[in-house]
Amino acid sequence: MESRECDERSESEADPAVGEELAKAILARQFHPSVIGPEMWEGYIFSDQQIRIKESTDLYGAVLWPSAMVLCHFLETNRDEYNLLDKNVIELGAGTGLVSIVSCLLGAKVTCTDLPDVLGNLQYNVTCNTRGRCKYTPLVTELVWGPEVEQKFPQSTQHFDYILAADVVYAHPYLDQLLDTFSYLCQLDTQILWAMRFRLDPENGFVERFRQRFHLEELYDLPSLSIKLYRAWRRDKRTKAQEAAPV
Ligand SMILES: C[S@@+](CC[C@H](N)C(=O)[O-])C[C@H]1O[C@@H](n2cnc3c(N)ncnc32)[C@H](O)[C@@H]1O
Repeated sequence: MESRECDERSESEADPAVGEELAKAILARQFHPSVIGPEMWEGYIFSDQQIRIKESTDLYGAVLWPSAMVLCHFLETNRDEYNLLDKNVIELGAGTGLVSIVSCLLGAKVTCTDLPDVLGNLQYNVTCNTRGRCKYTPLVTELVWGPEVEQKFPQSTQHFDYILAADVVYAHPYLDQLLDTFSYLCQLDTQILWAMRFRLDPENGFVERFRQRFHLEELYDLPSLSIKLYRAWRRDKRTKAQEAAPV
């Protein structure tokens, strides 16, 4: 996929029919169990594997949100350019774990994080869907956005090639902490892949605040799902042209 800065329009936005086809292809990744058994799950197909996700309706993080499918579809269909094999990947607000699971299936070393309340279900989904199928065993661990990130992931020993996040921006009071967590974890050569579900104005304004700290490139625009997918990287990262220029 070609690189496009955010003020340029993504392919799917330039032609709404392309966005519509893409949204259909993404939603077609989901299937439902044909027989109702003792355990409820939703099925997804990514990386040629069936993935079974157990949900629970009592917590935000225990339900799978469509942004996660959008990010997984992108990772699978752009694996030449965004090759996760042997890469260090962290997911923020992983919820039921689909994005982390697909990243593991694509060969990444994954650190999958969320609030303590959802870790039990998250660990269950991650273990059931990656055991015996992946090169690296994923780590599921608590990360509450904010200053805790500095103790849990010291920059001297921890480096991530990719930060992944799906639907982490909504009406919660931790948007400042989320922005600081992205900033802390994003080193010079880290790329952020972030699927944003647009809802109400106050939290939609987060995109502009994010843009003040990071370069932002729109990869997908899917109006029928109210979702955009962004790639972001640090503003102080030098471009290839700058690196090549004589000092
Ligand atoms: C809407 S859900 C999205 C879950 C998953 N990424 C998906 O797309 O299906 C938002 C996630 O952010 C997590 N979250 C919310 N506030 C958080 C915080 N302060 N620190 C860490 N995670 C948080 C929630 O527990 C939840 O899993």
